[in-house]
Amino acid sequence: MNRLFGRMTIRQKLQLGFGALILLVMSLAGITVRNNLAVRQDYQLLADDSFTGVRSLAQAELKAARTVESTSEMVHIVLQAYSNALEAGGGADTATLIAHLEPGELDAVKAEIKEQQDGLRQYLQEFSGATDKFHGAGTTADDKAALTERDGILAEGKAILDASAGAVALIDARADLPSILAGNEKMEEVDSAFFWTVDAKIAERTAELSERRDSTEGLINKSTETLLGFAALAILIGLGVGLFIADQIATPVSRLRDAVMKFGAGDVGAAESLADVKSTDEVGDLVVAFRKMATDLETANTKLARNQRLSMLGQVAGTVSHELRNPLGAIRVSLAVFRKLCSGKGLGIERSLERAERSVSRCDGIIADLLEYTRSRDMTRLPVAFDAWVGALLDEHALPPAVTVRRELASGYTVAIDGDRFRQILINLLDNAAQAMTDAGWTPPAGRERTITVRTEAAGPHCRLSVIDTGPGIPADALPKIFEPLFTTKSFGVGLGLPTVQKIVEQHGGTIDVARTGPEGTEFVVWIPRQPAGQEQPAESAAQHAA
Ligand SMILES: Nc1ncnc2c1ncn2[C@@H]1O[C@H](COP(=O)(O)OP(=O)(O)O)[C@@H](O)[C@H]1O
Ligand SMILES: [Mg+2]
Repeated sequence: MNRLFGRMTIRQKLQLGFGALILLVMSLAGITVRNNLAVRQDYQLLADDSFTGVRSLAQAELKAARTVESTSEMVHIVLQAYSNALEAGGGADTATLIAHLEPGELDAVKAEIKEQQDGLRQYLQEFSGATDKFHGAGTTADDKAALTERDGILAEGKAILDASAGAVALIDARADLPSILAGNEKMEEVDSAFFWTVDAKIAERTAELSERRDSTEGLINKSTETLLGFAALAILIGLGVGLFIADQIATPVSRLRDAVMKFGAGDVGAAESLADVKSTDEVGDLVVAFRKMATDLETANTKLARNQRLSMLGQVAGTVSHELRNPLGAIRVSLAVFRKLCSGKGLGIERSLERAERSVSRCDGIIADLLEYTRSRDMTRLPVAFDAWVGALLDEHALPPAVTVRRELASGYTVAIDGDRFRQILINLLDNAAQAMTDAGWTPPAGRERTITVRTEAAGPHCRLSVIDTGPGIPADALPKIFEPLFTTKSFGVGLGLPTVQKIVEQHGGTIDVARTGPEGTEFVVWIPRQPAGQEQPAESAAQHAA
């Protein structure tokens, strides 16, 4: 996970984080909607089926009561009129009684009865509709039972309507009193039957209703719990993802900041503390760039310090050597005078004189080295056939008789060199090799000759010059320092040979390396740029021609 994250850019990390959060929120919303749908469905069932059914039944019961009541009232009015007629002392038939009623007295009651009958009819229909809506298919046993029950209730309701209508019809038909009373009685019987049925039904439905309500409440509670649980989970995951991403971005940034501040305060090693930051996002790039900058700065600083040291050393050495030259000349001349004055007199000081002269020569050599190293005059480069030039130099340069020189000069290249200075390169390398092989503290293994191989080879745009000896090799602890000025392992050395060589090689646009060193010997390799083809004629002479 960390590795995968390490390879992402900050933008990708943020996109991933937000994507995860959006996914979480969306799944949360999905769960909520699904739960709500379930609750709504349950609620619908509750409202439509049971609620409407029960409500219309209750209303029907009320309307039935009103119908019976108003019908009874009509009968009562007739009854009243009858008793009034009896009190007045006369028997009368229904028709006569009704004729004596106030005009319109029965009409108001009849209208009332009609209204209540219509109401009863309407609610019965509503109840029937609600039942049909849920049990209309009649497929399950429950549905069938519910439909049968409904038909029963409807039949009973219709019986009330019929009874009421029957009672009204008897009065309208001016039937005799006992018939009217019997009709009324029958209507009340039917009504009370209806009441029993409907009451029982309402009680049953109410129980059912509260059961449903409980289950719906349970569903709502459960859905709330699930929702809260998921919300908590989402918050936790979101928080985790957020912290993880923030950590992924923030940790390298704050480490980079610390390192930069330390570096700014002068701790040059601070950049290395970021070596284990592996991310390849923008911060990773910054870290890499910062580390490179720090390394470059350190290298530049070291180089600068070294150059400053060398230039100061050069100035001092130059002045001192220059000042020593004249007194040394005076000593040499004086020694020559001594020698002349003392020769043939048997004073026995010849050997001392010789030692003094050798010492003066060595001092001269050291001064020449110093001056060579510190010299910075302009170079005059001329194209030469390199192999021949090296051969001529080997002819003229004397090496100890114990050392054999082997030539392998086969570059075939022309190079542009300042011959006077380039000599120093070869002479120093040859001398170092010879000195290493003739060192008093070292004897070559049996069967090994003291050989220096000088080789030139073509190497593309470069000419490769190798000086190979069969000496003891450079000690491992000395190897990193051999190009430093004044580093020497010799009692008579100055330690300016290789630094001078390196300087001249670089002035020629080349490089020098120890290609190999060990108990079998040492190989120094110098790479010098080849004179480009077509420019093999000496540039200077061409210029002179033109002039
Ligand atoms: N061919 C070689 N074999 C072994 N050691 C070498 C060779 N060339 C150079 N060195 C080592 O490098 C050191 C530095 O050489 P140089 O700069 O020429 O100074 P110097 O010759 O005055 O000591 C030598 O003192 C020696 O230890
Ligand atoms: Mg040397």
